[in-house]
Amino acid sequence: MINVIGLGYIGLPTALMMSSHGVEVIGTDYNKELVSTLNAGHTTFKEDGLDELFQEALKAGIKFTTEYQVTDTYIVSVPTPYDKFSKKVDAIYVVAAVKDVLKVAPKNATLVVESTVSPGTIAKSIRPVLEEQGRTDINLVHAPERIIPGNMVYELLHNNRTIGADDRATGEKVKELYSSFCQGDIVVTDIKTAEMTKVVENTFRAVNIAFANELAKICRHDNMDVYEIIKICNMHPRVNILQPGPGVGGHCISVDPWFLVGDYPSLAKVIDESMKTNDGMPDFVLNRIHEIMREKGMTDVSRVGLYGLTYKENVDDMRESPTLQLLESQERHLASGLKVYDPFIVKDVVDNQYHDLDEFLNDIDMVVIMVGHNEIKENYEKLRDKIIFDTRHIYDGECYRL
Ligand SMILES: NC(=O)c1ccc[n+]([C@@H]2O[C@H](COP(=O)([O-])OP(=O)(O)OC[C@H]3O[C@@H](n4cnc5c(N)ncnc54)[C@H](O)[C@@H]3O)[C@@H](O)[C@H]2O)c1
Repeated sequence: MINVIGLGYIGLPTALMMSSHGVEVIGTDYNKELVSTLNAGHTTFKEDGLDELFQEALKAGIKFTTEYQVTDTYIVSVPTPYDKFSKKVDAIYVVAAVKDVLKVAPKNATLVVESTVSPGTIAKSIRPVLEEQGRTDINLVHAPERIIPGNMVYELLHNNRTIGADDRATGEKVKELYSSFCQGDIVVTDIKTAEMTKVVENTFRAVNIAFANELAKICRHDNMDVYEIIKICNMHPRVNILQPGPGVGGHCISVDPWFLVGDYPSLAKVIDESMKTNDGMPDFVLNRIHEIMREKGMTDVSRVGLYGLTYKENVDDMRESPTLQLLESQERHLASGLKVYDPFIVKDVVDNQYHDLDEFLNDIDMVVIMVGHNEIKENYEKLRDKIIFDTRHIYDGECYRL
């Protein structure tokens, strides 16, 4: 039996996937409300195919509880934020979960950390806990997760995976467990290499996004069309530039590269600058809104609306989203008034938030497309008399861009 600890965006789909592929699974989360929602037969976030997977797992007998289980294998998928000051990974949740696992884990149990951590975290923060408690019998494994919100179920099945373990036999045993559902290649390596690969993958993405964002700033400064330039450059056989955007959000690309900056401050220079470039994009968008308003003779900021609160299209995950960062920036400038709407966010989370597209559009003259949800793509005719500022380069008609 597998006890999955932490039933959030990563732990829940993982638990469901294993259960629906014949593995006996009990999911544990210390959030009582979340566990009762799952036990009442409801998923806790929206994701393509998740509800179907949930039903299959229920049929297969998955259970959800707040209690840690006595079993031979644990998978820990709890949050790993970064310390805003030092930029280092904050392993506090992983350490707490490991301590609780150790209270019940039998001898020689396997403890798989799926949470993303910086290289050396397991050696520095987890192993000492095992040593303090005389539990060096526990087999530590790191199996970082690569799935992307919006395509999680498909990617769980098809992505390649990395498993880091102290010895080959443990690595192979965990590989066999993941092979129950994973159709991709599974590489077995050591723990520090596995830790580093995950962080490097997200850093690669962050640096490449930053390059596109920097190009957008250069092109704006000198009135060049960044999208046309990227399109032409990408016709070169060895060039593949990403698209610029209003900023980077989510739990991975906007967070994990900081771990390397925190751990190697004098070495991770390109990474540091890239993260600052990406973090500067919401402010760049805010300035651009101001510029466009001036050009159009608009003075009332409450006639401007931000479309989209999530960090990417067609998901309900708002963590670190560019729109939230932009609203924070507005507040820091002691300003207010921007209107906001997102079809995926049903609760009131910010000021001036709308829950109906038509009402939102009725109350504004300028719409800033922050997220390319399908909904807006299907309703372009409703934008006909609006000033459009498209930060995602999805709207074909006349509009302002980054
Ligand atoms: N979200 C993503 O897209 C993504 C992708 C790849 C990797 N990751 C990594 O996966 C890890 C988990 O991220 P997430 O997005 O699933 O986080 P999340 O916040 O959605 O879920 C974490 C869950 O763990 C629970 N929890 C925390 N401490 C606990 C404890 N001690 N015992 C029991 N439950 C506990 C919380 O209540 C929460 O439900 C992070 O390290 C993240 O970096 C996330």
